[in-house]
Amino acid sequence: MALPRPQIQGGRPLMQALNDRKTIRNISSEKLPPQTLSNLLWAAWGVNRAANNGRTAPSAMNTQEISLYVVLEQAVYLFDEKAHSLKPVLAGDHRDKAGTQSGVATAPVNLICVADLDKYRDGLAAESKTAWSNAHAGFIGQNVYLFAASEGLASWFRAFVDGAAVTRLLNLRPGQKVLYGQTVGYPAKG
Ligand SMILES: Cc1cc2nc3c(=O)[nH]c(=O)nc-3n(C[C@H](O)[C@H](O)[C@H](O)COP(=O)(O)O)c2cc1C
Repeated sequence: MALPRPQIQGGRPLMQALNDRKTIRNISSEKLPPQTLSNLLWAAWGVNRAANNGRTAPSAMNTQEISLYVVLEQAVYLFDEKAHSLKPVLAGDHRDKAGTQSGVATAPVNLICVADLDKYRDGLAAESKTAWSNAHAGFIGQNVYLFAASEGLASWFRAFVDGAAVTRLLNLRPGQKVLYGQTVGYPAKG
């Protein structure tokens, strides 16, 4: 699925976005326009230095071990950062697998952050892989929070994801670890 080219100009000043960053769990089911989804994914983990495949979030030794699965009402996609597009993974509505809390399954966008620990160099201690991939996920999560604050969207970072269920759903390899979910949409009215 093609995404519109991300709009990388504009947005609210960083200090205002930081001032407004917060978790909002009460999220409307209204869909996000394709342009907003495109901008969101670019902010989260997009390519910001094409010459060397640089990204909007850092990763240890630039391993870039995280993939974002994008769970929408119609299907699950994998964000292809270099092509800035969405690769179909599974048709159908699987939002009920994107988290264990109510409100997840009706929100328009759920991101699932999956680390491929096999991408780290050989010999790295398992604790380092775990720590570094969690740090990496945190940077992506904060990018999403700040984008949401800038755009007046709601965002909600979640550890409460059934990793085993998502692993089965997405047919992940043993080296791929489900880390977090993050829900995004418009704040519910009222
Ligand atoms: C590592 C981590 C895991 C989290 N997991 C969940 C979660 O599973 N469910 C949830 O509702 N909120 C989760 N949160 C959001 C926190 O509850 C929230 O950030 C905290 O209450 C502070 O609120 P604020 O984000 O509005 O400042 C998580 C936050 C972090 C950093």
